[in-house]
Formats: sequence, C-alpha cells, structure tokens
Amino acid sequence: MTVLITGAGLLATHAGKALADGGERIVYYDVAPSEAYVRQVMDDRPYTIVRGDVLDMPHLMHTIAREKVTGLVHSAAFLPETARERPFMATRVTVEGTVNTLEAHRLAGLGRYVLCSTIGIYDASVDTGRAMEEDQPIGPDSFYGCLKLSSEVIALHYQKAYGVDVMAPRFCPVYGLGQWYSSGGAIFMARCIEGPALGRAVVIDKPFSNVNQYLYVLDAAQAIERCYRVRDPAERAINIGSGALHSAPDVIETVKKVIPGARIDIDPAAWASSKDRVFVRQPFSLARARAVLGFTPAFTLEAAIADYAAKVRRRAQQPV
Ligand SMILES: NC(=O)c1ccc[n+]([C@@H]2O[C@H](COP(=O)([O-])OP(=O)(O)OC[C@H]3O[C@@H](n4cnc5c(N)ncnc54)[C@H](O)[C@@H]3O)[C@@H](O)[C@H]2O)c1
Repeated sequence: MTVLITGAGLLATHAGKALADGGERIVYYDVAPSEAYVRQVMDDRPYTIVRGDVLDMPHLMHTIAREKVTGLVHSAAFLPETARERPFMATRVTVEGTVNTLEAHRLAGLGRYVLCSTIGIYDASVDTGRAMEEDQPIGPDSFYGCLKLSSEVIALHYQKAYGVDVMAPRFCPVYGLGQWYSSGGAIFMARCIEGPALGRAVVIDKPFSNVNQYLYVLDAAQAIERCYRVRDPAERAINIGSGALHSAPDVIETVKKVIPGARIDIDPAAWASSKDRVFVRQPFSLARARAVLGFTPAFTLEAAIADYAAKVRRRAQQPV
C-alpha cells in the first residue's frame, strides 16, 4: 500500500520512516524538498519524492493516480513565523491546501487521511487546573493557529459529510533533527543540543518560552503511524504530547547530564525577557491518545537528547 505524505519536513520524513518500517510504500509530495535531508532521515529505506505544490490540484490528483496512492498524511503547511509574515500565502497553502488534499482524497476514494494538527488551536491561557484534554477551550492566539483550526474543522467536516476517514493528531511543539527549524520549541531545543553534541559552547541569546511541553519527533512519528493504522477510532481529534512540562533550566540541566562537559549559557538579557514566558500552563492529557491509539511517548527527555545528539554527530560526518 502507498502513502502520499504532503511536505517532506520534520514530521513528514520521520512519519514516513515509521510507516515504511511498517511496510508502506512512501511518496513525499513537497514544493521544495531537500533530497539530502529526506535521504538522511530515511536511511536506507526506499521512497519516492515528487516535487509538487498542494495548490496544484491537477498535479496532486495525477500523482495520486500515477503512484497508486491508498492513503494520505497531510503535513504541508506554513509554520508560525512564516504564517505571521505572509498571511495571504499561508492561508492559501494551509487552508486551501488542506481542502485540495481532502478533495483529491475523496475523489480518488482513498483510505485513511491524517491531518497534522496542533496545540495552537487551543486557548492555552485558560488554566483549568488539570492536564489539557481535548475539551480545552478553543482560541488560537496566532495566525498560524487560526489557519490550523480552520483546516482541522474543515477536515473533520469532510469526515462527517463525505466520509473521508480523517484523524487529526494535535501535536505540542515537536523537536528533532530538521532541515530548518520553524517552531519556537524546536529552535530552543536545537540551540541547547546541537552545539553541545559537537563539543561547542552555546549562548542562548534570543528570547524563548521558559516553560513548554516538548515532544521528540520519533514519538510524533509513532503517533502519526498509529493514527494512520487505527481502525474504527472512537475519537478523531487527539492530543499528542509528552505529558510533561519542562522549564528551560530543566532542559539545560538534562542536556548537561546527557552530554558531559556541555557548555550552555543563557544571556542575561534573553533570560530577563523569557523567564516569565509560559507557552502552556498544563501539559496535555494523554488519556485519549492511550485509549484510542495505544500511544504513550517512548522517549524520556534524557533518551531523546541522547538520540538527537547522536544524530547531530552522524550528520556532521556526512554533511547535508
Ligand atoms: N513542528 C511542530 O512543532 C509542530 C507542532 C504541531 C503541529 N505541526 C504541524 O505538522 C506539520 C509539519 O510541520 P513540520 O514542523 O514538519 O514543518 P516543516 O516546515 O519541517 O515541513 C513543512 C513542509 O511543507 C512543505 N510545503 C510548504 N508549502 C508547500 C506546498 N505549497 N506544497 C507542498 N509542500 C509544501 C515545505 O517545503 C516543508 O518541507 C504542519 O502541518 C504543522 O502545522 C508541527
């Protein structure tokens, strides 16, 4: 069976690797793929890359037919910074692109459709005093969140109205070895881990969220794979996170434990403007993820840092 994965970035490539390990044939559909990055993540697993735009509906449909696609994982989108800078194109790619993939999927009569949704759809400023369930009040505070919420609502409507078999995992910030870093959480983790993995001292000099929930990309990939395979799910929108909050000093201390001799400092001005920033007040509840998908994260923070650092060292020996 063949999965079309739109986008070939951080989540897409790692999900592709997990799905390939489960026996699927992988076709990436990305407007500007980095072949070297995809090769690096996929290691020696087979895959096909198609250079294509989710806004190009005829090409999308032609690709689905030509590659004999049976299911779809939709990851292509504009991420928060780019969405803020380019709201018009972000709306087209993120919302219209989602509708295109849903339409293509419906017209081709495919199986499962997985939409990579986000914590950004919630009003995270509301502290209910308990872990964030899927009934956390909705209320994006970024343009990106508005677009992703629109995409999710539309996708879930396609499920009800047209029978498209949609699953919508809502991810907290995901980190891991990327080709670029498009979310605040991924940037902070990259700063803390990538330099020290290569023996370099780092100074964090840009503002960041002091308290955040981070999910290692291999856990995110596992969740996408489970969403792709689950039969007759009782729920379709599901929080996927690590279930824990970490402060920046926690993360740095853990990196220092995992990478002995790591030198990481936070610039005092960056700390002054970041120490009170809390991205979320509560971690995700994983109750629904466990019940519907049998998902629990496999990586502790320590294990994820060790794996990430090993991959950084490997990349340094085989430059992209
Ligand atoms: N990274 C996170 O922390 C996070 C958290 C929650 C949800 N998500 C969601 O997961 C998905 C993937 O995020 P990521 O971090 O892997 O992003 P990424 O930036 O690494 O990858 C996105 C890919 O989409 C491609 N793309 C952009 N416009 C396109 C178009 N018009 N047609 C085809 N491809 C196009 C880009 O070239 C890029 O390779 C997104 O939908 C995002 O909203 C990510």
